[in-house]
Amino acid sequence: MSVNKEIKRVTTHTLLKLKQEGTPISMLTAYDYSFARLIDEAGIDAILVGDSASNVMAGHETTLPITLDQMIYHAASVIRGVSKALVVVDLPFGSYQGNTKEALASAIRIMKETGAHAVKIEGGAEIAESIKRIVDAGIPVMGHLGLTPQSIYKFGTYSVRAKEEAEANKLKSDAKLLEEIGCFAVVLEKIPATLAAEVSKSLLIPTIGIGAGNQCDGQVLVMHDMLGLNNTFKPRFLRQYLDLHDQVVGAVGKYVSDVKARSFPSESEQY
Ligand code: KIV
Repeated sequence: MSVNKEIKRVTTHTLLKLKQEGTPISMLTAYDYSFARLIDEAGIDAILVGDSASNVMAGHETTLPITLDQMIYHAASVIRGVSKALVVVDLPFGSYQGNTKEALASAIRIMKETGAHAVKIEGGAEIAESIKRIVDAGIPVMGHLGLTPQSIYKFGTYSVRAKEEAEANKLKSDAKLLEEIGCFAVVLEKIPATLAAEVSKSLLIPTIGIGAGNQCDGQVLVMHDMLGLNNTFKPRFLRQYLDLHDQVVGAVGKYVSDVKARSFPSESEQY
């Protein structure tokens, strides 16, 4: 076995330690080797190979169409670019809801065929048995509560979840349950900041928020969104750190005009 002694890998234990120290955890999505490499080099703690690949990589309207085989392809590519960050992979819609055996088989495929370090599953009490079975098999599981995009057709919209007391109470008890059955962390998506703060305080395991305020133990964003690849998606929770849409369109436009004008390649760019 070759072990790189220089690099201290982030593990699920590192994330717990960061919570205990009060140091926020940074997480971004990635779906391919090249961006995973850049994000890892920049010092991200954890990378999520999210089923948002269905949207940003494949152009689907929802996360539902992406398959387990496609997630495995993306995750294996990401893993080849990462030497430090913890890599978590989404179990896609349809790969775990059937029964606990199916859920475990899907999680095992992800771990075996990609080299990833953990899986993420959307849902609370309804899928607790499956999560337990996966955890019992030695596979770290990250939970995901609040706006769970795989249930978009049940919710009807992508608006903020758990604003009403009943849903907030269910979310709180689901979060406790996920901790009890062994999840190492839980994503809280698009819920009121006060609720996310309360849940984060009540749990020993870290919470990773997206649209859930700054009192979560960490934050996750979809990389394509924070880099501004899509100039039409600007939800309130998103901070855009680059405007890659305009930069890429500008650069490609310049290349096109250089080619048309025969100014590319120049003498120094040929053999
Ligand atoms: O698939 C994804 O990108 C996610 C994040 C939004 C948390 O689940």
